[in-house]
Amino acid sequence: MAIPFRFDALRRFPDVEADNLFAVDATDRLILDRAAGHLADAPAASVTVIGDRYGALTLGAAGLYGATGIRTHQDPLLGERALARNAHVVGLDGAFTNHGLDEGLLAGAQTVLLQLPRELAALDEMAQTIAEFASPEVQVFAGGRVKHMTLAQTRLLRERFGHVDVGLAEQKSRVLHAAEPVRGGEHAGYPRREYHRDIGVWVCAHGGAFGGTGIDIGTRFLLGFTDQMPVGAITALDLGCGTGVLAATLAQSNPAMRVIATDQSAAAVLSATQTAQANGVDGRVRVVRDDVAESIATASVDLVVCNPPFHVGATVHTGLAQRMFGAAARILRPGGQLWTVYNSHLGYRSALGRTVGPTREAGRNRKFTVTVSTVKR
Ligand SMILES: C[S@@+](CC[C@H](N)C(=O)[O-])C[C@H]1O[C@@H](n2cnc3c(N)ncnc32)[C@H](O)[C@@H]1O
Repeated sequence: MAIPFRFDALRRFPDVEADNLFAVDATDRLILDRAAGHLADAPAASVTVIGDRYGALTLGAAGLYGATGIRTHQDPLLGERALARNAHVVGLDGAFTNHGLDEGLLAGAQTVLLQLPRELAALDEMAQTIAEFASPEVQVFAGGRVKHMTLAQTRLLRERFGHVDVGLAEQKSRVLHAAEPVRGGEHAGYPRREYHRDIGVWVCAHGGAFGGTGIDIGTRFLLGFTDQMPVGAITALDLGCGTGVLAATLAQSNPAMRVIATDQSAAAVLSATQTAQANGVDGRVRVVRDDVAESIATASVDLVVCNPPFHVGATVHTGLAQRMFGAAARILRPGGQLWTVYNSHLGYRSALGRTVGPTREAGRNRKFTVTVSTVKR
């Protein structure tokens, strides 16, 4: 017997859960509502979902409107896992398949539901991919919280679609409707590439990767300590690698070193792979998509470098950093070191001491602190 679909059955798990973090928001409901006329009776495999947080869009399209063969792309691995788990709970396991942000996701798509990403470059790559591969008749419903939406998002969609209209706000959310995709054009594709002469490193970035082709100021500060990191380190891990700038720089600095770079973001993993290739170190940098390095063996690494995230979506949350410190403690060999950088006001030093081992401040500037924590022998 079919289980009636209920939004309140959905959870964020295994992503961080807290009282101020939600699995479903008003934007999910509004996008589904605005797209309702296109979802009811949608042909099989004609609906694509991009940026679904925890499954509300994918499972809502299937559970409320009967859409089948939905193709869905989520950048974070934890979002994918939550969708799979939620699908199981509401009895919709077979309703969708997971895809990268590519032709396989969009070929022939007639209806696209999209949660607007915060980064403009991420939206740019999404819009470009939709315009390139979806059906010429595609209807795109892109929603967000009004406080996070900008005119630049609308302008960007207008570069890729002949028709864009801005819907009325409802419950502090709004949906942009786009149609008439514009194929080709003068736009540069992804990944974008930039050479940083001062550091001597190429950075490749897909739209959704943290920091784009730039180098984050915290990361830049941490890079200044590379020559103080243990020279004998043979295996290193770049934990939460983003575009892989730390991994590539470590591999460049020590020809004997093998580096693993891990991130839960699909865009980050693609970018880090391309950054390693662009710097000619791909033979020694292995990039893995996983959740806080869960796939890396215990006590297998000499050095971990980490610029931990402290935002979960739009919400500041330090739980992720703590999980990363726990992962570093597990992965490091006795005597191994975790080098980390953080906004000084976060005061992670005592947590690092408790979780990893004796921790000293290696440096501090106006904004950031770099610490080194050593696992006891
Ligand atoms: C502050 S950014 C640092 C990126 C990169 N290391 C740099 O220095 O530019 C933090 C990174 O952690 C990643 N991240 C967030 N949650 C994660 C998780 N659960 N497992 C692995 N990586 C995660 C994010 O995708 C992001 O790329």
